[in-house]
Amino acid sequence: MHYAISGSFVQRLLNRDIGAVRAVDGVSFTLYEGEVLGVVGESGSGKTTLGRAMLGLAAPTGGSIRYRGREVAGLSERAFRPLRRKLQMVFQDPHASLNPGMDLATALAHPLRIHGATRSGAETDAAVRAALERVGLVPVERFLRKYPSDLSGGRSSGR
Ligand SMILES: Nc1ncnc2c1ncn2[C@@H]1O[C@H](COP(=O)(O)OP(=O)(O)O)[C@@H](O)[C@H]1O
Ligand SMILES: [Mg+2]
Repeated sequence: MHYAISGSFVQRLLNRDIGAVRAVDGVSFTLYEGEVLGVVGESGSGKTTLGRAMLGLAAPTGGSIRYRGREVAGLSERAFRPLRRKLQMVFQDPHASLNPGMDLATALAHPLRIHGATRSGAETDAAVRAALERVGLVPVERFLRKYPSDLSGGRSSGR
């Protein structure tokens, strides 16, 4: 993952080659089912960029990313969508994970509808309720219409 540095207007006018940020370079690993891999490095060393590239959230400038043997680097957003049910990122900041403009019921129903995971409104509703119960946000009725800002940090991160 290289990011082009666009530079200042004057630098571009003079056609100066000011290069690229090599955010992730020469990373190679294979991860098997059930395995856990820790990626450790100082701030700015490319951990987040690696994750974003693997999830198709940033188009890699080179290399290969395979999921169960299938090349996924450079897939269109549409082609990548089914894989989003399998590959996920848990963001560090829980408030960045939840849309502040959606109440919990809406936010939790959203991916189910996008992925066609449920066949009816009633089924979606049941799945949303089950998810809230699973993480202890009970009684469920009290949380369905709450917004992320109504929750404490621990609650919105699911801890
Ligand atoms: N969208 C971007 N455009 C340009 N440079 C970026 C972008 N995202 C990350 N970078 C750069 O890539 C490098 C790796 O960043 P990052 O993946 O966030 O590191 P980490 O998660 O390990 O702290 C940093 O130098 C960062 O400034
Ligand atoms: Mg990071």
